[in-house]
Amino acid sequence: MTATLEWGQHYAMVEPSAFRVDYAINPYMNPAVQPDPGRARAQWDELVATLRAFGVTVDVIPALPEAPDMVYAMNLGLVALRPDWSGPGRSSVLMSHMRYPQRRIETPAARAWFESHGFAATHIGREGIGAHFESGDAFPFQGELVVGYGPRTDELALKQLADDLGIQVRGARIVHPGMYHLDLAFCPLDADHALICPSAFDEESAAALLDVIPQPIILSEEEALGTWCANSVVVGRTVVMPACPRRVRNWLETLGFEVVVVDVSEFHLGGGSIRCLTNPLDITIGRDLEIVSGGSVVVPGAAAA
Ligand code: ARG
Repeated sequence: MTATLEWGQHYAMVEPSAFRVDYAINPYMNPAVQPDPGRARAQWDELVATLRAFGVTVDVIPALPEAPDMVYAMNLGLVALRPDWSGPGRSSVLMSHMRYPQRRIETPAARAWFESHGFAATHIGREGIGAHFESGDAFPFQGELVVGYGPRTDELALKQLADDLGIQVRGARIVHPGMYHLDLAFCPLDADHALICPSAFDEESAAALLDVIPQPIILSEEEALGTWCANSVVVGRTVVMPACPRRVRNWLETLGFEVVVVDVSEFHLGGGSIRCLTNPLDITIGRDLEIVSGGSVVVPGAAAA
């Protein structure tokens, strides 16, 4: 059986007390349709309890009252651990530089939380200057960091991620407006398997991604958009999902995964699901991401740089 993912045992989540739909920066958001605060809290509590029941450590970041989207913790920043280092940088977080100004107030608050929890914080760009990077666009797979770019992250950020972290970054251009973050269309399951919805990407990027996933489970556009099933969290052989189409469940069970469904439908009103509500704190360079001196970037249609 394929080796399970080593990361994904420790997450940060932002409590849902400020969650609202105040503006529309993705096709799901409509300020005329507000989440029910009681139901949102109950769904979020259920997600935390489920993850903890599977042995996951969940740290809770307080919400900033004026930041209704901060609950989507996945986008706050990319944590990378370097256990082989000593001193600052051993636990580091590359803070996101949000595409939309409405979300940029989250960054200083998140940075303060990370710093008070022992992380050294760095930035790619900030406050509207420099490349945008949203960490919901980045996941380790097969020793590389797969990074979706286009709607949120700028292609320019890829080189900086590779240089700063000393790893190989594999870019994939996202073109589907409904799958504006990588985590809506791609989910690493174990060392060889990943869920992927090719219609999120341009043709070259989809083909290149399918090439590097030894055993892809391909999602149709309807499956990805209708059920948010790529936006799931994997804990060893357990996949915690917002919903799971029967066909996908059969595949997962055949591969030895247990599917656990947690309803987070209130959070779909803001354009995010289970993965968006969690941020992994245990991605480790030298284990989940191979060390590549100087860093390198692979984008479809270009030779490695
Ligand atoms: N309203 C948020 C935004 O548009 C939703 C974020 C979803 N998060 C994610 N990791 N896909 O930024």
